[in-house]
Amino acid sequence: MNNLENAKKIAAEKALDFVENGMVLGLGTGSTVKYFLEALGREIKGGNLKEVIGIPSSKNTERISRELGIPLATLDEYHEIDLDVDGADEVDEKFNLIKGGGGAHTREKIVATASKKFVVIVDERKLVGKFTFPVPVEVLKFSKKLVEDQLREMGGVPKLRENFLTDEGNIILDTKFLVIQAEKLEVRINEISGVLENGIFSRRKPEKVVVGYRDGKVKVMERK
Ligand code: 5RP
Repeated sequence: MNNLENAKKIAAEKALDFVENGMVLGLGTGSTVKYFLEALGREIKGGNLKEVIGIPSSKNTERISRELGIPLATLDEYHEIDLDVDGADEVDEKFNLIKGGGGAHTREKIVATASKKFVVIVDERKLVGKFTFPVPVEVLKFSKKLVEDQLREMGGVPKLRENFLTDEGNIILDTKFLVIQAEKLEVRINEISGVLENGIFSRRKPEKVVVGYRDGKVKVMERK
Protein backbone atom coordinates (compact mmCIF):
# COMPACT_ATOMS: atom_id res chain seq x y z
CA MET A 1 0.00 0.00 0.00
CA ASN A 2 1.42 3.43 -0.90
CA ASN A 3 1.65 6.35 1.55
CA LEU A 4 -1.48 8.05 0.23
CA GLU A 5 -3.64 4.94 0.57
CA ASN A 6 -2.18 4.42 4.03
CA ALA A 7 -3.09 8.03 4.96
CA LYS A 8 -6.72 7.34 3.97
CA LYS A 9 -6.71 4.05 5.86
CA ILE A 10 -5.38 5.43 9.14
CA ALA A 11 -7.89 8.30 9.06
CA ALA A 12 -10.69 5.81 8.41
CA GLU A 13 -9.57 3.47 11.19
CA LYS A 14 -9.27 6.35 13.66
CA ALA A 15 -12.96 7.15 13.09
CA LEU A 16 -13.80 3.80 14.70
CA ASP A 17 -12.93 5.45 18.04
CA PHE A 18 -16.25 7.31 17.80
CA VAL A 19 -18.39 4.25 17.10
CA GLU A 20 -20.22 2.66 20.03
CA ASN A 21 -22.34 -0.45 20.49
CA GLY A 22 -25.94 0.00 19.41
CA MET A 23 -25.30 3.00 17.18
CA VAL A 24 -27.14 3.76 13.95
CA LEU A 25 -24.38 4.83 11.56
CA GLY A 26 -24.49 6.88 8.38
CA LEU A 27 -22.14 5.25 5.91
CA GLY A 28 -20.64 7.67 3.40
CA THR A 29 -19.20 6.89 -0.01
CA GLY A 30 -15.75 6.77 -1.59
CA SER A 31 -12.34 5.19 -1.36
CA THR A 32 -11.60 6.53 2.14
CA VAL A 33 -14.96 5.33 3.42
CA LYS A 34 -14.19 1.89 1.98
CA TYR A 35 -11.37 1.57 4.52
CA PHE A 36 -13.81 2.58 7.26
CA LEU A 37 -16.28 -0.07 6.12
CA GLU A 38 -13.55 -2.71 6.11
CA ALA A 39 -12.50 -1.79 9.65
CA LEU A 40 -16.12 -1.65 10.82
CA GLY A 41 -16.84 -5.04 9.24
CA ARG A 42 -13.82 -6.52 11.04
CA GLU A 43 -14.93 -5.15 14.42
CA ILE A 44 -18.47 -6.46 13.95
CA LYS A 45 -17.24 -9.86 12.82
CA GLY A 46 -14.77 -10.07 15.70
CA GLY A 47 -17.55 -9.29 18.19
CA ASN A 48 -16.01 -6.02 19.42
CA LEU A 49 -18.93 -3.97 18.12
CA LYS A 50 -22.49 -5.11 18.73
CA GLU A 51 -25.90 -4.08 17.42
CA VAL A 52 -24.55 -1.50 15.02
CA ILE A 53 -26.72 -0.68 12.00
CA GLY A 54 -25.61 1.23 8.92
CA ILE A 55 -27.57 3.51 6.60
CA PRO A 56 -25.66 3.49 3.29
CA SER A 57 -25.44 6.72 1.28
CA SER A 58 -25.05 5.00 -2.09
CA LYS A 59 -25.64 1.73 -3.90
CA ASN A 60 -21.90 1.16 -3.95
CA THR A 61 -21.59 1.54 -0.19
CA GLU A 62 -24.62 -0.71 0.23
CA ARG A 63 -22.98 -3.43 -1.87
CA ILE A 64 -19.61 -3.22 -0.09
CA SER A 65 -21.26 -3.17 3.34
CA ARG A 66 -23.32 -6.26 2.53
CA GLU A 67 -20.19 -8.10 1.40
CA LEU A 68 -18.51 -7.17 4.69
CA GLY A 69 -21.46 -8.35 6.80
CA ILE A 70 -22.45 -4.90 8.12
CA PRO A 71 -26.17 -4.93 9.07
CA LEU A 72 -28.05 -2.31 7.06
CA ALA A 73 -31.32 -0.42 7.26
CA THR A 74 -32.98 2.43 5.36
CA LEU A 75 -33.62 6.02 6.33
CA ASP A 76 -37.33 5.19 6.43
CA GLU A 77 -36.65 2.71 9.20
CA TYR A 78 -34.28 4.96 11.19
CA HIS A 79 -34.64 8.68 10.64
CA GLU A 80 -32.27 9.61 13.40
CA ILE A 81 -28.68 8.60 12.88
CA ASP A 82 -26.20 8.69 15.77
CA LEU A 83 -23.04 9.18 13.76
CA ASP A 84 -22.30 9.72 10.09
CA VAL A 85 -18.81 8.93 8.77
CA ASP A 86 -18.01 10.20 5.29
CA GLY A 87 -15.17 11.42 3.09
CA ALA A 88 -14.78 14.75 1.30
CA ASP A 89 -13.10 16.19 -1.76
CA GLU A 90 -12.03 19.43 -0.04
CA VAL A 91 -12.27 20.77 3.51
CA ASP A 92 -11.62 24.43 4.32
CA GLU A 93 -10.50 25.99 7.61
CA LYS A 94 -14.10 26.51 8.75
CA PHE A 95 -14.96 22.86 8.01
CA ASN A 96 -17.05 23.74 4.96
CA LEU A 97 -16.83 20.83 2.55
CA ILE A 98 -17.01 20.08 -1.12
CA LYS A 99 -18.30 16.58 -1.73
CA GLY A 100 -19.69 14.63 -4.64
CA GLY A 101 -16.51 13.55 -6.41
CA GLY A 102 -18.17 10.13 -6.39
CA GLY A 103 -21.53 11.61 -7.33
CA ALA A 104 -23.30 10.60 -4.13
CA HIS A 105 -23.54 14.04 -2.48
CA THR A 106 -27.35 14.28 -2.55
CA ARG A 107 -27.88 11.17 -0.47
CA GLU A 108 -24.77 11.98 1.56
CA LYS A 109 -26.17 15.39 2.51
CA ILE A 110 -29.49 13.83 3.49
CA VAL A 111 -27.71 11.31 5.71
CA ALA A 112 -25.41 13.95 7.25
CA THR A 113 -28.37 16.22 7.97
CA ALA A 114 -30.21 13.38 9.70
CA SER A 115 -27.18 12.63 11.90
CA LYS A 116 -26.51 13.84 15.43
CA LYS A 117 -22.76 13.69 14.84
CA PHE A 118 -20.85 14.00 11.59
CA VAL A 119 -17.22 12.94 11.23
CA VAL A 120 -15.27 13.43 8.01
CA ILE A 121 -12.26 11.29 7.15
CA VAL A 122 -9.68 12.60 4.68
CA ASP A 123 -6.05 12.40 3.72
CA GLU A 124 -3.96 15.53 4.09
CA ARG A 125 -4.38 16.61 0.41
CA LYS A 126 -8.03 17.43 1.05
CA LEU A 127 -7.31 20.27 3.51
CA VAL A 128 -7.38 23.57 1.60
CA GLY A 129 -7.24 27.30 2.32
CA LYS A 130 -9.49 28.03 -0.64
CA PHE A 131 -11.81 25.70 -2.56
CA THR A 132 -10.74 24.84 -6.09
CA PHE A 133 -12.67 21.60 -6.66
CA PRO A 134 -15.50 21.98 -9.23
CA VAL A 135 -18.83 21.93 -7.40
CA PRO A 136 -20.79 18.78 -8.32
CA VAL A 137 -24.39 19.72 -9.10
CA GLU A 138 -26.97 16.92 -9.46
CA VAL A 139 -29.51 17.90 -12.09
CA LEU A 140 -32.58 16.37 -13.72
CA LYS A 141 -31.64 15.49 -17.32
CA PHE A 142 -34.74 17.33 -18.53
CA SER A 143 -33.44 20.68 -17.27
CA LYS A 144 -29.77 20.38 -18.32
CA LYS A 145 -29.59 23.40 -20.68
CA LEU A 146 -31.57 25.72 -18.43
CA VAL A 147 -29.49 24.84 -15.39
CA GLU A 148 -26.24 25.22 -17.35
CA ASP A 149 -27.30 28.72 -18.45
CA GLN A 150 -28.09 29.77 -14.91
CA LEU A 151 -24.86 28.36 -13.52
CA ARG A 152 -23.00 30.39 -16.19
CA GLU A 153 -24.91 33.52 -15.19
CA MET A 154 -23.65 32.95 -11.66
CA GLY A 155 -20.05 32.88 -12.94
CA GLY A 156 -19.73 29.10 -13.07
CA VAL A 157 -18.34 26.92 -15.83
CA PRO A 158 -20.44 23.73 -15.87
CA LYS A 159 -19.13 20.54 -17.40
CA LEU A 160 -21.24 17.43 -17.82
CA ARG A 161 -19.76 14.42 -16.03
CA GLU A 162 -19.41 12.00 -18.94
CA ASN A 163 -20.90 8.49 -18.84
CA PHE A 164 -22.23 8.99 -15.37
CA LEU A 165 -25.67 8.87 -13.78
CA THR A 166 -26.32 9.17 -10.06
CA ASP A 167 -28.04 6.44 -8.07
CA GLU A 168 -31.24 8.42 -8.68
CA GLY A 169 -30.67 8.43 -12.46
CA ASN A 170 -29.70 12.11 -12.74
CA ILE A 171 -26.76 13.87 -14.40
CA ILE A 172 -23.96 15.79 -12.70
CA LEU A 173 -22.66 19.17 -13.85
CA ASP A 174 -19.21 19.68 -12.32
CA THR A 175 -19.10 23.45 -12.07
CA LYS A 176 -15.93 25.44 -11.71
CA PHE A 177 -16.20 28.75 -9.82
CA LEU A 178 -13.33 31.18 -9.41
CA VAL A 179 -14.54 32.24 -5.98
CA ILE A 180 -16.64 30.05 -3.72
CA GLN A 181 -18.47 31.72 -0.86
CA ALA A 182 -19.69 28.47 0.55
CA GLU A 183 -22.89 29.48 2.35
CA LYS A 184 -24.21 31.81 -0.36
CA LEU A 185 -23.31 29.54 -3.22
CA GLU A 186 -24.78 26.41 -1.64
CA VAL A 187 -28.15 28.12 -1.27
CA ARG A 188 -28.10 29.92 -4.64
CA ILE A 189 -27.32 26.84 -6.68
CA ASN A 190 -30.13 24.92 -5.00
CA GLU A 191 -32.57 27.69 -5.91
CA ILE A 192 -32.21 26.82 -9.61
CA SER A 193 -35.20 24.83 -10.75
CA GLY A 194 -34.07 21.38 -11.89
CA VAL A 195 -31.18 21.19 -9.41
CA LEU A 196 -31.55 18.45 -6.84
CA GLU A 197 -28.54 19.20 -4.70
CA ASN A 198 -25.00 20.50 -4.90
CA GLY A 199 -21.84 19.27 -3.22
CA ILE A 200 -21.16 22.26 -0.95
CA PHE A 201 -21.72 21.37 2.71
CA SER A 202 -21.78 24.67 4.59
CA ARG A 203 -24.96 24.23 6.61
CA ARG A 204 -24.26 20.70 7.81
CA LYS A 205 -20.59 20.81 8.66
CA PRO A 206 -18.77 18.03 10.47
CA GLU A 207 -17.98 18.34 14.16
CA LYS A 208 -14.73 16.47 13.58
CA VAL A 209 -12.36 16.03 10.66
CA VAL A 210 -9.92 13.14 10.93
CA VAL A 211 -6.84 13.69 8.79
CA GLY A 212 -4.41 10.98 7.77
CA TYR A 213 -0.91 12.04 6.74
CA ARG A 214 1.45 10.33 4.33
CA ASP A 215 4.10 10.12 7.07
CA GLY A 216 1.76 7.86 9.09
CA LYS A 217 0.43 10.48 11.54
CA VAL A 218 -3.26 10.98 12.15
CA LYS A 219 -4.93 14.05 13.62
CA VAL A 220 -8.47 14.66 14.87
CA MET A 221 -9.52 18.29 14.28
CA GLU A 222 -12.53 19.63 16.19
CA ARG A 223 -14.83 22.37 14.87
CA LYS A 224 -14.55 25.56 16.91
C1 5RP B 1 -18.71 10.90 -2.91
C2 5RP B 1 -17.95 11.80 -2.00
C3 5RP B 1 -16.68 11.26 -1.43
O1 5RP B 1 -16.79 11.25 -0.05
C4 5RP B 1 -15.55 12.13 -1.87
O2 5RP B 1 -15.55 12.16 -3.29
C5 5RP B 1 -14.20 11.61 -1.36
O3 5RP B 1 -13.92 10.37 -1.94
P1 5RP B 1 -12.52 9.66 -1.74
O4 5RP B 1 -12.44 9.25 -0.31
O5 5RP B 1 -12.56 8.50 -2.70
O6 5RP B 1 -11.45 10.66 -2.13
O7 5RP B 1 -18.32 12.90 -1.71
O8 5RP B 1 -19.83 11.55 -3.42
